Amino acid sequence: MNVYDTERMLDVMAPHGYEMTEAPDDADVVVLNTCHIREKAADKVYSDIGRIRQIKKARPETREEMVVAVAGCVAQAEGDEIMRRAPVVDMVFGPQAYHRLPDMVKAAKQKHDKGESVRLLDTDFAVDEKFEALDAGPRQQSAAAFLTVQEGCDKFCSFCVVPYTRGAEYSRSVSKVLEEAERLVAQGVVEVTLLGQNVNAYHGETATGESWDLARLIEALADIRGLERIRYTTSHPRDMTDALINAHRDVDKLMPYLHLPVQAGSDRILKEMNRHHTAASYRDIIDRLRAVCPDIAISGDFIVGFPGESDAEFAETLQLVRDVGYAQAYSFKYSPRPGTPAATMASQVDEEVKAARLALLQDELNSQQLAFNTRTVGQVMAVLLERYGKQPGQLVGRSPYMQAIHVDTEDAGLAQTYFGKIVNVEVTSAAPHSIKGRIVQSSNV
Ligand code: 5AD
Ligand code: SF4
Repeated sequence: MNVYDTERMLDVMAPHGYEMTEAPDDADVVVLNTCHIREKAADKVYSDIGRIRQIKKARPETREEMVVAVAGCVAQAEGDEIMRRAPVVDMVFGPQAYHRLPDMVKAAKQKHDKGESVRLLDTDFAVDEKFEALDAGPRQQSAAAFLTVQEGCDKFCSFCVVPYTRGAEYSRSVSKVLEEAERLVAQGVVEVTLLGQNVNAYHGETATGESWDLARLIEALADIRGLERIRYTTSHPRDMTDALINAHRDVDKLMPYLHLPVQAGSDRILKEMNRHHTAASYRDIIDRLRAVCPDIAISGDFIVGFPGESDAEFAETLQLVRDVGYAQAYSFKYSPRPGTPAATMASQVDEEVKAARLALLQDELNSQQLAFNTRTVGQVMAVLLERYGKQPGQLVGRSPYMQAIHVDTEDAGLAQTYFGKIVNVEVTSAAPHSIKGRIVQSSNV
């Protein structure tokens, strides 16, 4: 979502003559788009601000004064503190304010010109206003695009800051989503990933006042000519309806991959996490998905060392992982987040215990991922080759199962022909986090 938001910030700045630069010392405006989900991510902000302060100091006097902004969820949650701790920061704005970036930059520049210091703080929650302002839609350079359909979350898992930083659940209207998808396709996009913190809680309104769920939205998107592939992330087990499960059988364009976080395998811990599902109900969803879409690749998120988690309860997480079988997954040590209920729970787990559990879990998940990748060797699959690789003639894409795949054409001209296209690729080898393949026949060039 932060990648998407950053692209939208570029979009709103482009008409004002701004473009992206790879060199920070060349930038007239620096925006740090931050994440508050775990402490490590939030801490990085202060070290990055320090680095930018050095870069700003080293810039020649003749250059325009650099405007420094902190955006995103750390800004939302700790705006005042950033202002206090980091005088180099001119402005701080939350995820719902970035459409006002051009105005804020203009105001900051005017202050700089007068030699005054700038201190702008905007952490409003006007999410509908943001989406209205962004209706012009994104510029798109890649054949695969993100499309935000939903933002915020009402689930209040006891460990999570999202409901506080991103605010209440908000679904964009059906027509806005379909229009944006049409625009993306007109720009050459063939794959969209529908985004939302709780994307399968989507309930967008239609022009006639009906409410559509995600399954219905996916069906409508699948009718768009030229749009070949649909994905969605991130989902909550509670909102995994029969209709959405069946969409994995009925909608060909819906890719056989699902990121469905379970977080833990112990029912007691799941209850303490306020997840409103059990390990058994999660397993049941996976079984039903596999019944309708046998090759579906499952991904997930896991937290180890939630307050009070015992060795036996952690063992239940490992068991669940072994039973489900993941194609890939993300796993984290529990990180206490200020303002969330779990942060003040008694019996916080020692760092060493968390680290040991994480190592065990990641061993299991890594070997599952390698096993999954290895099983695909020899298969021919339609792959969207979305970008150029590091080697000449190399293209990089995602398999239908979301595996990163590298394809060597060994010919820059051929690579250009296949760039941005969906191509049949035979998987030739597997590594823990990616696979390699060769083009066997182009399906859509
Ligand atoms: N500590 C560790 N991991 C967390 N996540 C969310 N909050 C925390 C936290 N406080 C993880 C969850 C979520 C993913 C996006 O980040 O697994 O699904
Ligand atoms: Fe956070 Fe996801 Fe839980 Fe919402 S459903 S509170 S975003 S972990």
